[in-house]
Amino acid sequence: MQHFRVKTDIRYGFGALASLDELAGQRVLVVTDGFLANSPLMATIRQALGGATVEVYDRVTANPDTATVASGIVVFQRFKPHAVVAVGGGSPIDAAKAIVTLAEAEADGAPSFIVIPTTSGSGSEATSYAVISDPASQSKVPLTSESMLPDIAILDPECVRTAPPKLTADAGLDAVSHAVEAYVANDHSDFSDAFAEKALQLLCRWLPVAYKQPDDLAARERVHNAATMAGMAFNNAGLGIVHSLSHAIGGLFPVPHGRLNAMILPHVIAFNAGPLGWGPATLTPCALRYAHLGLMVDVKATTPRGRVLGLIEDCRKLAARLDMPTTMSGAGIAKAEFQRALPRLAEAALHDRCTAGNPVAVGVHDLEAILTKIA
Ligand SMILES: [Fe+2]
Repeated sequence: MQHFRVKTDIRYGFGALASLDELAGQRVLVVTDGFLANSPLMATIRQALGGATVEVYDRVTANPDTATVASGIVVFQRFKPHAVVAVGGGSPIDAAKAIVTLAEAEADGAPSFIVIPTTSGSGSEATSYAVISDPASQSKVPLTSESMLPDIAILDPECVRTAPPKLTADAGLDAVSHAVEAYVANDHSDFSDAFAEKALQLLCRWLPVAYKQPDDLAARERVHNAATMAGMAFNNAGLGIVHSLSHAIGGLFPVPHGRLNAMILPHVIAFNAGPLGWGPATLTPCALRYAHLGLMVDVKATTPRGRVLGLIEDCRKLAARLDMPTTMSGAGIAKAEFQRALPRLAEAALHDRCTAGNPVAVGVHDLEAILTKIA
């Protein structure tokens, strides 16, 4: 028996933020960062929460750590919220997930957990994962719990309207990598395939528009919805070595997660697909799945082999249209420094939890070879 879990009530489209007014009369703890706490968006959210008693915990910083979570739990325990509302990109959402889950264990009843993403990419509003930094062990600790799956996700394009192009590109390409990785991951299913296919179709069509024309709100809306669909896909299907490698590199070099994924993705598709013969019978099951995904995104090729190559090329072109670098040196990291770190990065990627979801077994030398390609 397999599971496809769907828990989150997804409220989308313009005006979706207004549904916060149903929290009138309740105690609402908003978890966010210092920048968003003073933004016009927060004023809109506060207005929608007009009838509620609101406390804002705004001490979340990038890569939230155990201390941030611990002080959030203190606020939670003092305030005893009926609802927790996370507002932000991956960091405030991850911090809120950890606060809700750890504080909930000691609370009398679980508060409702609402997530309002302000970037279109991580899919965190539809997943049961969070990553918290632990300064003591100098590591990032992945947390997973069903209680981290939000009860409600509010996808209002108003929340991403002012996201700068670089952020739109980095986050959007993270979503692209979620869709492609989930499509071939070991736990994929007909259900996760449906979300991955549609997410990738929407992203290929609308992400370049949202990047070039940030005020195109129709494009913003499609990209925002697609990122959540990709999150629903990978929350059930798993991910693969694009994320293993990206986690390892991101722990050592300050390059955004989605930018790394875009750089790595074409090489991982080529690796996972294996040698591409000319007839369908010569392609591996994984290569045939990539070929089918190519067909879904309108790759113009008549053979499965051509569709795999076309999918790789489309991923490259999409990243190029978003002005992404194709190498670490292009991303500002000295080649020699990156090459020195290669063995350590490959080893870390091998032990990353996403490696188990990759459709093809990998060894440390495979990972080093992929890393060498992006030096
Ligand atoms: Fe990701």
